[in-house]
Formats: sequence, C-alpha cells, structure tokens
Amino acid sequence: MSSRPNVIVVADAAALAEAAAQRLVARVTQGDRAAVCLTGGSSPQRLYRLLAQEPWQSKVPWPRLHWFMGDDRFVPQSDALSNMGAARGLFLDRVPAPRQNLHPIPTELADPDLAARAYESDLKSFYGADRLDPARPLFDLVLMGLGNDGHTASLFPRAAALDENARWVVGVAKAGMEPYVPRVTLTFPALASSREMLFLVEGAEKRNILTRVLAGEELPAARARCDGELIWLVDRAAAPEN
Ligand code: 6PG
Repeated sequence: MSSRPNVIVVADAAALAEAAAQRLVARVTQGDRAAVCLTGGSSPQRLYRLLAQEPWQSKVPWPRLHWFMGDDRFVPQSDALSNMGAARGLFLDRVPAPRQNLHPIPTELADPDLAARAYESDLKSFYGADRLDPARPLFDLVLMGLGNDGHTASLFPRAAALDENARWVVGVAKAGMEPYVPRVTLTFPALASSREMLFLVEGAEKRNILTRVLAGEELPAARARCDGELIWLVDRAAAPEN
C-alpha cells in the first residue's frame, strides 16, 4: 500500500489534462476490461473534454471500459450539480462508451443511504467478491480532487465516514462544503483498491491546502491510500513552493 506522496508538477491546466489523459490510457489498455472511478468538481473537466476529442478519443478502448463515480451529489443526473451528469455531458455521452458500462450512483432511490447500499452491491457484483483483495484491485484508475477544506470525494473533515472500514460506500447526510446537498461517497478502503490513484489539483487557490495535505496534516485527503501507485498531478500554480 503506497502512502508516500509522489508529486508530478506540470506547467498549467492544459498540461495537467494531457498528462492525466496519458496516464488514463496507459492504465486501461491492458486486460479484457478496465474500470475507472471518476471524480466531480472542476479540476477533471478539462481532462473529460479532452477524452472526447481526437487524438485521445481514438486511443481509448471504449467498449472494454467501465466508468464509476467516487462520489456524487444526491440529485438527479439531469441536475447541473450531478457529477455523473457532468461527466456524461463532457465526454461519456460523446464517445462510443456502451451505456451498460456507465455505473452512476443511483441517486433516484429514496435516500443517500439506500443509494450507497445499492452502489456497494453493484461494485461487489462487478468485482465478483464481497471482500477486497489488495492483489486484485477493484479499479484500474481512481481520479480524485482536493477541496479547499482538505476534503476528497465526499469525505469531509471530521466526518464519521473518514473512519469507515467495512462499508465500500456510505451516504453523507450533510456536506461539509458547497454545494450543501446530501452526498454518496466511496470510502477510503474502496478508493484504495486501485492500480493507481491520481489526484488532479490545479490553480493558485489550491496551493495552501495542497501544501498542508502533502505535509501530512490531519486532513481527509492526506489519509488517502492506494494499493497501487498514489500520484499527485498538480500544476505549477498549485505546487507548494520549496
Ligand atoms: C464533488 C467532488 C469533490 C471535488 C473537490 C474539488 O463532488 O464535489 O467529487 O470531492 O473533487 O471538491 O473540487 P474542485 O475540483 O471543483 O476544486
């Protein structure tokens, strides 16, 4: 399990999206199927747009890929706040991704906890077992973002979900940051079950929180682990000075 931060600094947001696309393609082009766990927020948007454009669209083996979401807001996919709705609008609906390979968190269910339980059983049936084996990760690539308060996915500072070790997915009744809608989030053990975890962090407004996270302060994102490689891909504006 890797926990020592491996930080890659690139020039700017455009270079960050290119580097992320390259890493994604490298991770998903082996094996007979591959699974990518996406993230919401603004940081991955440029990457998502790039994947729908050439030359990247032709480099991605769409029929073999499955797309999951690390967390989502408890709103319909048609809502502007929906992470899966955003990913579909930016790329998944613009590429030859089979509809049955999209695995949205079922936010149409009655409440976040029911949606979490349903998503956990989807993940378990995709994985083919109820227990995660570090030698056989659930995902090939997990994308992560970093919030200004140090949260990642919908794992907010001081939330009970941070310490969840048994469940793969939990409901979050109260978000710690805008937008203040309930969330559903994968837990650290489920997110860790990947060949690679790739944080995408860009912009000067992230520099302070990124410096604190990389220094190992007690913040959610600093607790992220990965069974495979854990990489922080950051642009120069966000990179800590040293
Ligand atoms: C969400 C995200 C969240 C996000 C961070 C960073 O649902 O809001 O999954 O964890 O990654 O808040 O967001 P930005 O990239 O917009 O700063």
